Amino acid sequence: MNDLDSLVAAAHDAFAAASTPAELENAKARFLGKTGRVTELLKSLAALGADDKRARGAEINAIKQRIEAALQARRQALADAELEAQLHAEALDVTLPGRRRGSGGLHPVSRTMERIEAIFGSMGFDVAEGPEIENDWFNFTALNTPEDHPARSMHDTFYVEGGYLLRTHTSPMQVRHAVQHVKRHAGTDTMPEIRVIAPGRTYRVDSDATHSPMFHQCEGLWIGENVSFKDLKAVFADFFRHFFETDDLAIRFRPSFFPFTEPSAEVDIAFSSGPLKGRWLEVAGSGQVHPNVVRNFGLDPERHIGFAFGMGPDRLTMLRYGVNDLRLFFDNDLRFLSQFQ
Ligand code: FA5
Ligand code: MG
Repeated sequence: MNDLDSLVAAAHDAFAAASTPAELENAKARFLGKTGRVTELLKSLAALGADDKRARGAEINAIKQRIEAALQARRQALADAELEAQLHAEALDVTLPGRRRGSGGLHPVSRTMERIEAIFGSMGFDVAEGPEIENDWFNFTALNTPEDHPARSMHDTFYVEGGYLLRTHTSPMQVRHAVQHVKRHAGTDTMPEIRVIAPGRTYRVDSDATHSPMFHQCEGLWIGENVSFKDLKAVFADFFRHFFETDDLAIRFRPSFFPFTEPSAEVDIAFSSGPLKGRWLEVAGSGQVHPNVVRNFGLDPERHIGFAFGMGPDRLTMLRYGVNDLRLFFDNDLRFLSQFQ
């Protein structure tokens, strides 16, 4: 191997040893740079005579081209390797499952509330809302339940400073709404009927599979000059058949007692098919509004008469979806709640 061939071999080795573009450029400088070995050879031509210069010059140029070709090949190899590494690092596994955006939905009890409002709305009932922190007058006394009335013991609740309490039912809304209604129509001869529902949260010191310390009720009130129990029955029949989307159910009025209605009845329903077939289930309290309460509305009980009821939307939701523990609705467990979406 002559000196020129071994120079080419040395360049090959140096380029192969370079593992980055920067190292390769350093190696290039050692052969092809200003003071590189090929450049030194070309400078040495100056000392030769004309014929030798031509022959030696051609040889040197030939190996210079081989070295440049080797350099170019190595550059390409390094660039290819870099691209390969980059592609590998950024590899996408197209078989991985995608990331979904979860969609939220209404709470099952909220769905029930919306259904109740829609169905009663179609029967001409307004929707009213009122405070959850109530005073003694609206929650008890105005509803014919004075202090020391034994019925108060059924409604133990959470008391707030200043004589307020967390309302134990939505019945205070009967009085709040009726008083407003009467005021609005004061001085006119014919007062429009009161026909309203009042859904919302209620509180009692209660806790078991069918009782929660925070629960929901929906109050109903229909007062006019000729409204009777017959109308109450018709309203309930219509409501429950729409709510449960079936005609296969029976409604029973069971005599009961509430201080604010007389006579009073608990409302039970029974399905004639399905998993709950034949069992009577209590779904509401109801009755003809007591004359003392009608007076607290600001109306004359000799002229104005009607009925009220209070339903438990949590229980209706349990029945509709076949859930047997009401507390599940308030645990906020997504595994449970997402089943209703
Ligand atoms: C009342 O609260 C009366 N205010 C209803 C009423 C209104 C009667 C108007 C007459 C005229 P009661 O305590 O029975 O009644 O409650 C009514 C409904 O609320 C029950 O049928 C039940 O569905 C629901 N309920 C009562 N307590 C709880 C509780 N702790 N958790 C879940 N639901 C409850
Ligand atoms: Mg009851």
